[in-house]
Amino acid sequence: MAEKKKSSYISGKESRKITKFNRRITKKLEKERADANKDPALYTTKMRDENNVVEFDNVCTYFFSDVGVVKAVDGVNFDIPKHTTVGVVGESGCGKSVTSLSLMQLLQRPTGQTVGGQIRFNKGDGTAYNIVNTPNAIMETLRGNKISMIFQEPMTALNPVFRIGQQINEVIELHYPEMSEEDVKARTLEMLELVGIANKEGVYSMYPHELSGGMRQRICIAIALACSPTLIIADEPTTALDVTIQAQILDLLQNLKDKLNSSIMLITHDLGVVAGMADYVVVMYAGRVVEKGTADDIFHHPMHPYTIGLMKSKPVVGQKVDMLYNIPGSVPNPVSMPDYCYFRDRCEMTCGRCRGSYPPEIRVSDTHVVSCYRYYDEGTVLGYPKSVNVEEL
Ligand SMILES: Nc1ncnc2c1ncn2[C@@H]1O[C@H](COP(=O)(O)OP(=O)(O)O)[C@@H](O)[C@H]1O
Ligand SMILES: [Mg+2]
Repeated sequence: MAEKKKSSYISGKESRKITKFNRRITKKLEKERADANKDPALYTTKMRDENNVVEFDNVCTYFFSDVGVVKAVDGVNFDIPKHTTVGVVGESGCGKSVTSLSLMQLLQRPTGQTVGGQIRFNKGDGTAYNIVNTPNAIMETLRGNKISMIFQEPMTALNPVFRIGQQINEVIELHYPEMSEEDVKARTLEMLELVGIANKEGVYSMYPHELSGGMRQRICIAIALACSPTLIIADEPTTALDVTIQAQILDLLQNLKDKLNSSIMLITHDLGVVAGMADYVVVMYAGRVVEKGTADDIFHHPMHPYTIGLMKSKPVVGQKVDMLYNIPGSVPNPVSMPDYCYFRDRCEMTCGRCRGSYPPEIRVSDTHVVSCYRYYDEGTVLGYPKSVNVEEL
């Protein structure tokens, strides 16, 4: 008897169809992008609120992969206010890194494309760039200078064949070509001191392999902050470090942020890290924001069943339990998301409405927004996430 067809199985014919579709769509999107790059009116816009550094407005970033369209980020809305730390949390694969890569325009193109929404970056002169359409030449002046990124793995983020000094100098030279060689070196040494490297002259001429993990992450922070950026994106900055070093690195980041008057977008799956540092928290699940608010809202009054589950699964110091809570089930297949709430099948608090459409964003207090039908009657409905129908692209 023939085996029952698995839902994830793709026949040769379907595979060819997907490839053909992907090629057509990505070619079209790349062309549209090239056209938009030529017209400043298409990449210059205005901030909704001048006090924000970045506004994600219904951002949709999809990957046109061989198995179908992966909606990695689908209608994401949140702001990063000036001089604050915004924590982005959620389990692995929920779209945190893709959100930050969309902001840096570092997506793996042409497979990865931001197909909808706006990412507004405040220029500080009353106007803003819409990063989605900004040409690469301008992006190069922003990356590392206005927006910089600290990656998860300090071991791989540094180039093993260049000395530490050279790697920091490079960033400064690129963004300040008029600076003299001595001034660049002085700035590099100043940065090394700032990130707490005691033997700065010695480390200046060392190779990455001569340093410990914590020191390498300090170097990555020095590189990221060399040009005093307005926004620092820290993508799991302490995940590869041991716990004692973690606290030091986070303290350092927080201090430098205050010194440079920057904002931080802190991406992590570790609620402990966010609790200690963030002013605002955005909780993501399967490519969507399910809850956002101040750190106090999220930690003391979590409302979305997913956030409540995350809180319950966190160990508490001094409290002994036989087994930690775990959220049942797993994330739905990103290629074929259900047309109702993505968390419904794992949710222990479902209500009658959950089988309907995906829940809207509901404002439950001045600062707290949650995407769950349980609060439909008590809050203000802000709107539904705007997904893009790829067939209509
Ligand atoms: N280059 C890529 N091609 C296809 N899918 C990708 C690619 N990069 C990321 N994805 C998908 O996007 C989703 C979100 O990934 P990511 O943002 O890296 O998660 P995380 O929240 O752990 O940082 C995942 O489902 C992942 O499989
Ligand atoms: Mg990630």
